[in-house]
This record gives sequence, C-alpha cells and structure tokens, in this order.
Amino acid sequence: MPEPYTLRTERLILRPWRDSDFPLLAEIHSDPRVVEFLSRPALANRAESDAVIERIRAHFAEHGYGFWAVEAPGVSELVGSIGLSNIPFQAHFAPAVEIGWRLASRYWGQGYAVEAAKASLDFAFNTLGLDEIVAFTAPANTRSQAVMQRIGMTRNPLDDFDHPSVAEGHPLRRQVLYRIKNPANDPKV
Ligand SMILES: CC(C)(COP(=O)(O)OP(=O)(O)OC[C@H]1O[C@@H](n2cnc3c(N)ncnc32)[C@H](O)[C@@H]1OP(=O)(O)O)[C@@H](O)C(=O)NCCC(=O)NCCS
Repeated sequence: MPEPYTLRTERLILRPWRDSDFPLLAEIHSDPRVVEFLSRPALANRAESDAVIERIRAHFAEHGYGFWAVEAPGVSELVGSIGLSNIPFQAHFAPAVEIGWRLASRYWGQGYAVEAAKASLDFAFNTLGLDEIVAFTAPANTRSQAVMQRIGMTRNPLDDFDHPSVAEGHPLRRQVLYRIKNPANDPKV
C-alpha cells in the first residue's frame, strides 16, 4: 500500500484525511453554493458526505494520491479538498487522472484553489511523472473553469462530453473538458 503523500504550499497543507474531518466536510457540503455543480446532489446528507472521504481514502490506499484534505494553518483545519483522482468512468479521454477542487465558500476568492491546484499539478508531473491531467465541470461553473485557466489548462470544445453518471436531461450532464500536458513531455514547450 503506497504511503499517502503530504504537500505543502506557502499557505496550505494538502494532507491525508483524519477522522475529525468528517463533520467538517459535512458542514462544507451542507452549503448549496458548494454543491451546486457537483454530480452527487445528496452530499448535504451526512452519510453521503462521509462516503466521499471513505472513497478518497480507498483511492489513497490504492494509488498514494487522491483528493487531499486542505488545511490552512492558523486559519482552518479544513478549508476544502483539492487533488488528483483516476477517472472512474468510461469516456473518450479515459483512462485519465483528473484534478479537482471544492472549498468552503467562506474561503473562496483568496487564491487557495489555485495555490493547492498548482502543488497538485507539480506533484502529478514531477513526482508521478504523468503525461496529462484533465479537469471537467458544467459549462455554467465559471469559477471552476477560471481555476482551470489560471493553472494553464486549455479547452477544446470538441472534447465536451456527457457525464455518464448524470441522468440524461439533467442540467449537469453536459461537461466541458480542460487538459494540460506535462511540460517535460510536450514537444511544443
Ligand atoms: C471552484 C472553486 C474551488 C474556486 O475557488 P476560488 O477561490 O474562486 O479559486 P481561486 O483560488 O482561483 O481564487 C481566485 C480568486 O481569489 C482572489 N485572490 C485573493 N487573494 C489571492 C492570492 N493571494 N492569490 C491568488 N488569488 C487571490 C483572486 O483575485 C480571485 O478573485 P475573483 O474570484 O474575485 O476573481 C470554488 O468556487 C468552489 O469550491 N466551488 C464549489 C465546488 C465546485 O464547483 N468545484 C468544482 C467542481 S468541477
């Protein structure tokens, strides 16, 4: 079983999940602004929120990385969750590793998502040696797309897709896809 990595940035620690995080993540998930564009709408339910951490822990146990718990020392033990995850569904761009983020809304607008995302990307490219990272969200989630753009990801509209875990006709089914290549492997750089 690989050791889960911990990453440090100027203001944040990306760390494995603790049992004390369960109620903190549930509180984050109880905010409608946080879950507005997430494909599992029942996260306000405590058991559903707890299951998110259990799934992330299983991913860490298998791969050594995942969506980290993000702590801002001196500010909050848990500001949100940011990191890397293997895409669990079939898609034209899979197999692939995605980068994703969710923060308690009181911590939006401080650059935390970009700071943690850059550390995750650096880890993906320089420690894991991955060739490409993807991210996806609903077209209306402009805040999330702004993070993708700030960390250098780009979108080709031909990559847009229907999320197989979201029911047909649901407004979150259509997703935009962003990609970024490992600069070490990119002949254009
Ligand atoms: C998506 C999400 C993580 C973005 O959070 P965010 O705080 O807007 O992201 P960033 O880290 O890019 O912060 C940028 C903002 O911080 C500001 N900022 C303040 N201090 C900063 C600093 N020191 N460094 C960088 N930016 C800073 C920027 O000016 C920018 O402000 P703006 O939003 O008014 O333009 C957040 O909205 C979220 O958790 N949403 C709900 C979950 C979700 O939808 N996740 C994606 C599912 S696909």
